[in-house]
Amino acid sequence: MNIEILKRELTARWAGQPLSYKEETDSTNLDIVRLAEANAPHGTVALTERQSAGRGRKGRSWTSPAGENLYFSLLLRPGFPVEKASMVTLVMALAVAKALEAERFEPFIKWPNDIVLSGKKVCGILTELRMDQGGYYIIVGVGINVNQQKFPEEIKASATSLLLEKGELSREVLFAKILAAFEKYYEIFEDQKSFLPLKEVYEALLINKNKKVRVLDPKGEYEGIAKGISESGELLVEKENGTVEHVYAGEVSVRGIYGYV
Ligand code: BTN
Repeated sequence: MNIEILKRELTARWAGQPLSYKEETDSTNLDIVRLAEANAPHGTVALTERQSAGRGRKGRSWTSPAGENLYFSLLLRPGFPVEKASMVTLVMALAVAKALEAERFEPFIKWPNDIVLSGKKVCGILTELRMDQGGYYIIVGVGINVNQQKFPEEIKASATSLLLEKGELSREVLFAKILAAFEKYYEIFEDQKSFLPLKEVYEALLINKNKKVRVLDPKGEYEGIAKGISESGELLVEKENGTVEHVYAGEVSVRGIYGYV
C-alpha cells in the first residue's frame, strides 16, 4: 500500500488518527491492544499488509496473505455503557457496506457483521472488548478480501473478493471511505446511544431479512424467519409458533437453510 496516497485520501476527523502501519504483524487486533495499553487515543487505527496470526470469530483464524487485502483494526474508547459495546460491530458492518456501495458494488450484510457479495463472504469483522484502568475499550478488526484470487479449499465455496466480483480497486481509497463512513455512523450511534436511527439503513442491506434462517444456538438450534433487528441490534427471528426470538450477536451463528446465506 502507498502510505502517501493513503494519508491523502483520509478525510475522517478522528477515525485513523493516529495511523499505525506495518508491513507485517501477528494481528492488527493485537496491535491495538498493545497501543491501547500505551495510552493510544480513541480513533487509533492499526493497518497491515500481512498478518501471521490473523484472528476470526469463534477462535477461528483469518487467512491474511500479503499485499492483496485490507486488514485493519480501530480503537474506540466509548462514552456509552459497556452493554451497548457489541452494537459497534453492526456500525462497522454498515460502514463497510456503504463504502462498497459508493464503489458501485451491491453489498449485503449477513447479520451481524459479514459483508456479502453474490452470496459469498467478502469481509469479516471481529470486535473485542478489554478492560483497563480508565474503563473499557473496544477493538474493531476488519478484514476485506480486495485483490485476492485464490482461497483455501475449506472456504473456496463461500468466499469471494472485490477483484473477483468486479475488478481491481484501490485499497487506499476504500480504506479511507470506510473510515469516513464509520465515523459518520458511529457519531450518530454514540449521540443517540442507540442503534435505532441506523436500523432502517442497516435492515435495507440485511440479506437475511424475511428469509428462513437456522439459529445455531448452543442451548438448542431452531429455524424461523428473520424479521429484522431490534433497536439494540439483536436479530428478530419469528418461529413457526409465532414467538419472536431476540438473537444476540456473539452467542450464536445464523445460517441460511441451504448454505452460508
Ligand atoms: C470473521 O471471522 O469473520 C472476522 C474476521 C476478522 C479479520 C480481521 S483482519 C484485521 C483484524 N485483525 C485480526 O486478527 N482479525 C481482524
